[in-house]
Order: sequence, then structure tokens, then C-alpha cells
Amino acid sequence: MPDPSFRNLTVVTHPLIQHKLTILRDRETSTRDFKQLVNEIATLMAYEATKDLATEPVEIHTPLEQMTGRQVAGKKLTLVPILRAGLGMVEGIAQLVPSARVGHIGLYREHDTLKPVDYYFKIPAAEVERDFFVLDPMLATGGSAVAAVGALRDAGARRIRFLCIVAAPEGVAKMLDVHPDVHIYTASLDRQLNEQGYILPGLGDAGDRLFGTRSKE
Ligand code: PRP
Ligand code: URA
Repeated sequence: MPDPSFRNLTVVTHPLIQHKLTILRDRETSTRDFKQLVNEIATLMAYEATKDLATEPVEIHTPLEQMTGRQVAGKKLTLVPILRAGLGMVEGIAQLVPSARVGHIGLYREHDTLKPVDYYFKIPAAEVERDFFVLDPMLATGGSAVAAVGALRDAGARRIRFLCIVAAPEGVAKMLDVHPDVHIYTASLDRQLNEQGYILPGLGDAGDRLFGTRSKE
């Protein structure tokens, strides 16, 4: 169900997701638990984000008789994590969709300007009927997400969704403005950004907390 404040946004309010998100936000949560929780939340989010995928009939034989089952139609899904923090969501989703292909987009936010700087791009062939799921736990100013989706589009991708864990209104609004057809799935729409572009209340620097590197906050 799209969020009432943004037509491009679905906030996944499942109790298990909300419970895990609360532990994720807690500054006392260890790197090991943080990684595990990002994976688990990504799995649960993927369940929601894939619920309208088209299916088609397929003939199979059970041990007893022939029947018509259903399978997901079209080309294999492609997961596209934005490096680094998006990497933390890949395994969780791949558990649910083991045949998914994985592309990578390398972007980081320049510290002072908050503008995204790109350093890597490698994706499977962007065939028209392929679904792309861009992954990043954080949607803050939206600069990184807008740039990643733009790069995918330039490579020919047409069917793109964005999965994050925490979103700021500023980032959702920017995506709606630049890429209105890209639906966003998040576990929370937080209050606002602070002056350094961090989400409030947020969870801090997702990449640093995932990989145990020094916090920039
Ligand atoms: C974080 C996060 C997003 C980006 C969000 O990455 O993982 O990619 O910031 O901010 P934005 O919406 O304002 O662009 P960061 O630049 O810290 O890089 P990292 O994942 O390598 O730490
Ligand atoms: N990137 C993060 O990792 N956290 C934020 O709060 C904003 C951008």
C-alpha cells in the first residue's frame, strides 16, 4: 500500500521488521548483530517488494500426476547493491530469490557537498523485461539513489525498484521528482536530515556500522 504522504513509497510495517529495525538503530548493537539484522530485514522487505511480480503457468509432474503450477515470469531478477552498505542486503534477498543476478554500483557521498561520486558500475545485460532491485539501507538526500537509478537507466534498464531500510522525506521527494516511476520500499520513513545529511533519528552511518569502520558522525 503506497504511503499517504508519497505515492512512490511503501513503508513495510510488518511487526518483525519493526522489531528488528529498533535493534538495528540502537547504538549498542554490535557489528556482527547489525550485519545479521540488515540481512534479515532485507529478506522480509523482499517478500513485500516481490509480491506483485507476474507469474505464468508451468506444467510439472508431481510423484502422482501432472499439474499446472505457477512460476515467476520473465527474466531473472537483478539485485544492484550500492557500494558499500547495499552489499549488506544482498544475501538476505538472495536467500529468497537464489536465481537473482547481482550487479554493483560504486558511489560514495562527498563529505562536504554530500554529492555522490561514482567509482564503479557493472551490471548484467539490462534487457527490457528484466526487473532491477536497487539496494541501499539509507535514502538520505537521495543523491546516491537518483544517481544509481540514472546510471541503470542509461544502461537500458526500465523496470527499477528501490529497497532501503530507513528513508528521509527529502530523499523520497527527490526520487519522486527525478524518477517518479521507481517505487521505493522502506522499513521506516524517518523525520528529517540533520545539517550533515544524516537521517534523524536514523541509525548512523550504515556502511561504517556494517563493516566496523570508523564512524564519521
Ligand atoms: C551512504 C548510504 C547511501 C548514501 C545515502 O553511503 O549507504 O549510499 O550514504 O546518502 P544520500 O541519500 O544523501 O546520497 P556512503 O556515501 O556513506 O558510502 P559507504 O556506503 O561507502 O559508506
Ligand atoms: N548515509 C548513512 O549511512 N546514514 C545516514 O544517516 C545518511 C546517509
